Amino acid sequence: MGKDGPRDGAEASLPLNDAEALNDAEAFKRRERLYGRRVGKPLRAHQQSLIDARLGSLSIPSDGLLDLSALFPRASQCALEVGFGGGEHLAAQAQAHPDWGFIGCEPFINGAAKLVAQIEEQKLDNIRLHIGDAREVMPRLPDLCLTALYLLFPDPWPKARHHKRRFVNAKNLDEAARILRPGAELRIATDIADYARWTLEHLMGHGAFCWTAEHAGDWQNRPADWPATRYEQKALRQGRTCVYLRFIRR
Ligand SMILES: C[S@@+](CC[C@H](N)C(=O)[O-])C[C@H]1O[C@@H](n2cnc3c(N)ncnc32)[C@H](O)[C@@H]1O
Repeated sequence: MGKDGPRDGAEASLPLNDAEALNDAEAFKRRERLYGRRVGKPLRAHQQSLIDARLGSLSIPSDGLLDLSALFPRASQCALEVGFGGGEHLAAQAQAHPDWGFIGCEPFINGAAKLVAQIEEQKLDNIRLHIGDAREVMPRLPDLCLTALYLLFPDPWPKARHHKRRFVNAKNLDEAARILRPGAELRIATDIADYARWTLEHLMGHGAFCWTAEHAGDWQNRPADWPATRYEQKALRQGRTCVYLRFIRR
């Protein structure tokens, strides 16, 4: 990632064409731009064949309201991870909670290929994927359907003129509040002090969420049931401080 967020010049967007009849997913892509990479280096041959073989059955349906009991027939609860990167956290959560169903959203296919390899190696059967923007999925989830939502090290967009690209914003928090059931947890991590402040301001100002921290250690230390991510490990190696914020849906 570049210092301003995802690499400049790699922004994915689609041209407008009002005449074309659009389904919901296509209409969304035309309305809402995704600022981030969808592809990186070419996938290695075994990654490509795994994607070819498994992505179809792992992917959620491409439009319509999502029926979580059909996606996860054995699950007692469901969780969503936005921007799972290489999928380390999502795979670890899925292994720790075999009776939960997990939806992971990530537009970067190289990250998704890493997660699909973990799903295969660990024989995980409780993860479904959307290789794309989480904002396409959240409106398709029923009210009060989630026990947890994870947003770990979202792209920081440090320049003031790019702040409107940050995932933490009033619209996405309204959607999160709608799909999280009372008592559900929203976890947000960042290594950027300004994004931590921004997140607290937005969450405390929202009204539907309550910050769980009672002591500094509560946000300075990653809880034991919160697996590490690749981005976090890199940030720590480079001497940056990470912040772990937990909010409960009122
Ligand atoms: C800084 S990386 C962190 C990845 C991972 N969470 C970690 O901690 O290693 C941010 C990730 O969010 C993804 N992302 C950005 N906007 C997104 C969106 N609207 N929906 C889903 N993922 C998104 C990016 O593709 C990128 O992989």
